[in-house]
Amino acid sequence: MSFKEIFQTESLVSCNAHARVNLIGEHTDYTGGFVLPTLLKFKTTIEISANGEKIYQVYSKYFKEKKTFNDFIKSKNNNWIDYIKGCLFVFYNECKYVSNKHLNIYISSDIPMERGISSSSALCVGMLKSLNEFFKTQISDKHIAILAQKVERDYIGVSGGIMDQMVSSIGIHRKAFFLDCLNLKYQLLDIPQNWKFYLVDSEVQRNLRNSSYNERYIQLKKAEKELSVEYLGAIKLKNFKKEKISDPIIQKRASHVISENERVLKSIEYMRKKNIRKFGNLMTESHLSYSNDFEASTKDVDLIVENSIKAGANGARLTGGGFGGFTVSLIEENIKDKWLEYMLNIYDISNFFEV
Ligand code: GLA
Repeated sequence: MSFKEIFQTESLVSCNAHARVNLIGEHTDYTGGFVLPTLLKFKTTIEISANGEKIYQVYSKYFKEKKTFNDFIKSKNNNWIDYIKGCLFVFYNECKYVSNKHLNIYISSDIPMERGISSSSALCVGMLKSLNEFFKTQISDKHIAILAQKVERDYIGVSGGIMDQMVSSIGIHRKAFFLDCLNLKYQLLDIPQNWKFYLVDSEVQRNLRNSSYNERYIQLKKAEKELSVEYLGAIKLKNFKKEKISDPIIQKRASHVISENERVLKSIEYMRKKNIRKFGNLMTESHLSYSNDFEASTKDVDLIVENSIKAGANGARLTGGGFGGFTVSLIEENIKDKWLEYMLNIYDISNFFEV
């Protein structure tokens, strides 16, 4: 059902926000390091109009569900509506001069959920951009990203970095978004034309995600404390004294992050030089570090990475927060068909998406 069919009126504002795939740089964002994501075609669209009902009405096309509310209190059972309430709460707090108006809100999306490509950030960025346009508040795209992160951290209560929100708010399709997560400076890099990125769905639902993600977050914050630095991003691999960290598991977690930052920095040089072989090698090294030191992979995911390389990919890795979801492979255009043919002997076509 369309906006008009649900709310018997036309929408006044419509904004999109895209999902992202991270090419390299995992769990480096909230530790003051570097990331290199790019935008996907998958997107969430938010449409808005005012309503005279003295109530907020929200329809999700995906859940085929309409919900109403007139306070911003978070529900007790982790409901999708909380993201909308959270955005309204954060937005009105930020723009205190705006007079609170009841709204009709319509959400549609083709982003696969729980797959590590940031469907929740796209929802928040899309919602905040729509409110920004509706109320003509002129918040910059960078600040939209910061507010979207606030919704997830302070309202929903999941620890996370700023990568997803920044690239969803500012990124461009087929440009790599190199972000320094400490000062939020970014550069948009051209992805060479003959480089193709493919997502392969591991079909492992990331239901362990929040608890395992938060556990890694806490471990890395402990590492920063023991190493007496504000952020792990400040440490170069050659200066890393892992024996200063008492717990060997936390040593491994920190090792991943510190080596990953160096890989991101090298990777942008290789992208600029169009060196697909070296860029691909870094992706695979990143996966090995993510799987062995960070222990954020699964057997099925490791197997997809292995098979993808056997099939001729230059590099492959698990993308996103970890514990299942999508892998991303880098393939040179002229071997794309061969790669796909090999992979389709093993995996179903419905699991493949070209970036
Ligand atoms: C999730 C978080 C990001 C980032 C990645 C891991 O997507 O939302 O901030 O930490 O995991 O790189």
